Amino acid sequence: MSYRITVRPSGHTFDAEPSETLLQAGLRTGLNLAHSCANGSCGECRARLVSGDIAPVQHVDFRFSEREKQQGWFLMCSCHAVSDLDVEAHEAGSAAEIAEQRLRAKVSRVERLQDDVVQLTLRAPRTGGLHFLAGQSVVLTFPGLRPKMLSIASCPCDSIQLRFHLRRRENDPFSALVFDSLRKGDEVELRGPLGDFTLDEDSLRPLVFIAWESGFAAVSSLIDHAIQKDENRSIDLYWLSEVPRGHYLSNYCRAWRDVLDDFRYHSIDLEPTGDERIEDVIERVIRVHSLLADHDYYLALPDPAMQRAQDLLRGADVPDAQVRSCLLRHP
Ligand code: FES
Repeated sequence: MSYRITVRPSGHTFDAEPSETLLQAGLRTGLNLAHSCANGSCGECRARLVSGDIAPVQHVDFRFSEREKQQGWFLMCSCHAVSDLDVEAHEAGSAAEIAEQRLRAKVSRVERLQDDVVQLTLRAPRTGGLHFLAGQSVVLTFPGLRPKMLSIASCPCDSIQLRFHLRRRENDPFSALVFDSLRKGDEVELRGPLGDFTLDEDSLRPLVFIAWESGFAAVSSLIDHAIQKDENRSIDLYWLSEVPRGHYLSNYCRAWRDVLDDFRYHSIDLEPTGDERIEDVIERVIRVHSLLADHDYYLALPDPAMQRAQDLLRGADVPDAQVRSCLLRHP
């Protein structure tokens, strides 16, 4: 049995099982609810009960005043629903509303997706996961190495297990460490989230994602988030790669096709593996979509392809607000 939760002032709704906290249930369904520690210490997830009944699930250190208690204030991370609820809670509407966080995470898994691509999973402390929006990045610092910024490939519904994609590069000590010597349990400092390559959640327009190489990571986070939110928007994903067998998670894309009614996955080999240039593909994709309908565009591309895509979209009278960009420097 689950209960229906309505969040004010947004009017968003979600279903919560009695076995999960209200914060867990809200994040699972794709809401960007404010939170940090998830254990009743920081007060970031405070909300006000407007109607319905809740029950505590854990001891909390955070203290409300008597007056706040009478007004119905409680912690979303420390209560579960025992009836349908109306609550007032803060939801992050943009990247600017999420404070930068620093935390120490541990390596949970290093998984070879291909000979030269790994999926790195880091585990944030249970006492404080990372609050971020789909599509954002963090800076990772391993002892003795220069910090590196990577897009988070996982969905914000899980603030503890964070996934990243990395391609091996010559003469890059960071990728050498990850590929050759990183072990489960190794520590890394994490700073973020950074960037505004995030989903426009107020839009109902069809979505076009164009990702080059491991730019797929940020796009993957956005699509998983759209699925969590049960978005009913049409999605076209173009994944461009110039590396042989470069679409390292094609199975994952095909799984999206099974769960989404209106999803198309276009896997495109660029020259020298295929016979198309990146500029030609971008021109073709934008021409087709701008003629068909009014879309939102999400570009994870390197320069000068990014510049070319933005110019083409302006030339097709697509408003800047409908274009979000994540500039890539390496595959
Ligand atoms: S008290 Fe920190 S997230 Fe709930």
